Amino acid sequence: MFLDQRLNRSRLRELCSGKTVLNTFAYTCSFGVAAVSAGANAVNLDLSRNYLEWGQENYRLNGVEPEESDFIYGDVFDWLGRFAKRGRRFDVVVLDPPTFSRSRSSGVFRAEKDYSALLERALRVIESGGILLCCLNAHHISAVEFRYILKNSLPSPADLRQMPMPEDFPGSDYLKSFWVRL
Ligand SMILES: C[S@@+](CC[C@H](N)C(=O)[O-])C[C@H]1O[C@@H](n2cnc3c(N)ncnc32)[C@H](O)[C@@H]1O
Repeated sequence: MFLDQRLNRSRLRELCSGKTVLNTFAYTCSFGVAAVSAGANAVNLDLSRNYLEWGQENYRLNGVEPEESDFIYGDVFDWLGRFAKRGRRFDVVVLDPPTFSRSRSSGVFRAEKDYSALLERALRVIESGGILLCCLNAHHISAVEFRYILKNSLPSPADLRQMPMPEDFPGSDYLKSFWVRL
């Protein structure tokens, strides 16, 4: 469980009631749990079937019966393309990728090089006026650099607000999070 993400989960709970949420790189689906417990409809997407099973267990532990169709196995890049083609849109999209990963279909993902491409795909599935959470867990990229990467890929005007790390992570700034309203 990523305790360092709890302010973002809290923020998600505040704003997503009655909305559709796409939780990419879902892992234990904790953003999904936060969303459904606030009354949203959440879809969790991950490249690992095991993690999605953990995610379903996480739903049950939080008193929510998981719906099979809300847990999608596969590559985020592929699925963002598929959703876009089908015209499927979400009110909120959570992007919390690993710094590095390898997928059979989309190849190697390196956050510093490929975040813009990820964002560009995510923008195709977001409702106009929608909300994005863009996270980056990387020591070697500063918040200023990350904001610059985001600004360069977002349509203007986009409102970016940085969420700090929780106060019980003193002196840490490895997790950079920006809430973006389009
Ligand atoms: C750092 S975790 C994300 C943490 C998660 N947001 C949470 O709050 O628990 C990274 C996840 O990304 C998944 N992943 C990595 N590359 C992927 C890809 N190309 N498509 C889909 N999922 C991917 C991994 O299986 C892993 O579960």
